[in-house]
Amino acid sequence: MEMQERDAWSSNFGLVLAATGSAIGLGNLWKFPFITWENDGGAFVIVYLACILAVGLPIMMAELLIGRRSQKGVVGAFRDMAGPAWKWVGLWGVLCGFILLSYYTVIAGWSLFYFWKSFGWTFGGFPADLAAGDLFGEQVGNASLQLMLSLAFSVATIGVVYFGVQKGIERMARILLPVLFVILVLLLVSALGMSGSGEALKFIFEPRFAELEWSGVLEALGHSFFTLSLGMGTMITYGSYISRKQSIVKSAGAIVAFDTLIALVATIIMFSVIFSVAGLNEEVGRSTVGMLFISLPELFYTEMPFGVVLGPLFYVLVALAVLTSTISLLEVVTSYLIDEREMKRQKAVMASGGAIFVFTIFAALSFGSTPVLSTIVAFGKTGWFSIADHFVSNWMLPTGGLAVAIAAGWFMTRKATMEELMDGNQPAWFRYGAWRFFIRYVAPAAVLAIILAVLLGQDFS
Ligand code: PHE
Repeated sequence: MEMQERDAWSSNFGLVLAATGSAIGLGNLWKFPFITWENDGGAFVIVYLACILAVGLPIMMAELLIGRRSQKGVVGAFRDMAGPAWKWVGLWGVLCGFILLSYYTVIAGWSLFYFWKSFGWTFGGFPADLAAGDLFGEQVGNASLQLMLSLAFSVATIGVVYFGVQKGIERMARILLPVLFVILVLLLVSALGMSGSGEALKFIFEPRFAELEWSGVLEALGHSFFTLSLGMGTMITYGSYISRKQSIVKSAGAIVAFDTLIALVATIIMFSVIFSVAGLNEEVGRSTVGMLFISLPELFYTEMPFGVVLGPLFYVLVALAVLTSTISLLEVVTSYLIDEREMKRQKAVMASGGAIFVFTIFAALSFGSTPVLSTIVAFGKTGWFSIADHFVSNWMLPTGGLAVAIAAGWFMTRKATMEELMDGNQPAWFRYGAWRFFIRYVAPAAVLAIILAVLLGQDFS
């Protein structure tokens, strides 16, 4: 058989950018601010940072090392590193990528819609009588619009993955991530100038432990998987393109640090706006997508300094952040077809992208436009969109994360994991023994706690 040569990142920086792009997405821009709000900030943020350090970082290193050592996508990687039966764990990851991508694309489509709208408002003026909630409701209920938006986004995702790791994914990340950072800094500067910024910083960083509940601790833990793209093989797949010359520990540290920084910055921006406008506090709690797509559009044009420019830029930011995440999801499924089914990349991308789009159609039509899809009920959730999100966040990512910890901590030998982490390029602060302790005991115990909580009825979606 003729082997396709395995693609690889051109440098450490290329991997860090692509993986950071995967990690930064709706989890940072929308979900983290929202759960911080619901859990009363302060103490919740500290607990979240602890989860990122104690569970997220060790598992990030574990996924990258499993990938590099096996040089395979998620299915082959688990099989080669932990044993034949583990291929099912890998397939669980592929399935997860499939489902997650199917609905993530729909929200991505909304950001396109709002970009287009806000572009119009910037030049035509913001209509004084616009009911933002109605506009949102109309666009999600408009079936053909939803299909067009998500199709456009799917095509963009497929287009990037088609060109491979270095020429597609890495090149895109190199262009998009700097743009994303610049837009965020502009938004941050403008938000800090608003009257509510002092109160926002206090809300986010002043610990008030009396207000934190146990469910909040588990929510922080569950979210650390989602936001770091862990538990489904994204980082295993990206790790399989790392060369031996790069340090896994350094890369993992950088990815985790960037992701956390961006989540905090996004939260500061949103809360500065919220605290600057009287009465907005009550509105925010009501709807999960409300903050991003209902409250913010109007505020850009009525409250925020330079909002007419920052508004459209903000929605471009959301779209770009989401694109670098959807790319990584599609790559998980694509690399499975390439590595295990021996397909050519181009064919594998088309096959997986096309199949996933069928489910994207279900997700896109979940909002009232199609009676059957918007009314199916499972796990106490209504509509394909909510069901899929619930299943992924509550079940698939935590169980996947547990499998990674067990594979790296208990099934792989000490020698194997040590060779990958102590690769000669590791930073001076790194202690292998500490990593091993966290991956063998701390991470599995923490994930088991989530799974137990889900079984007892907690909901992380
Ligand atoms: N990390 C992404 C976010 O925060 C979501 C994601 C999860 C992407 C898993 C890929 C894999 O939005």
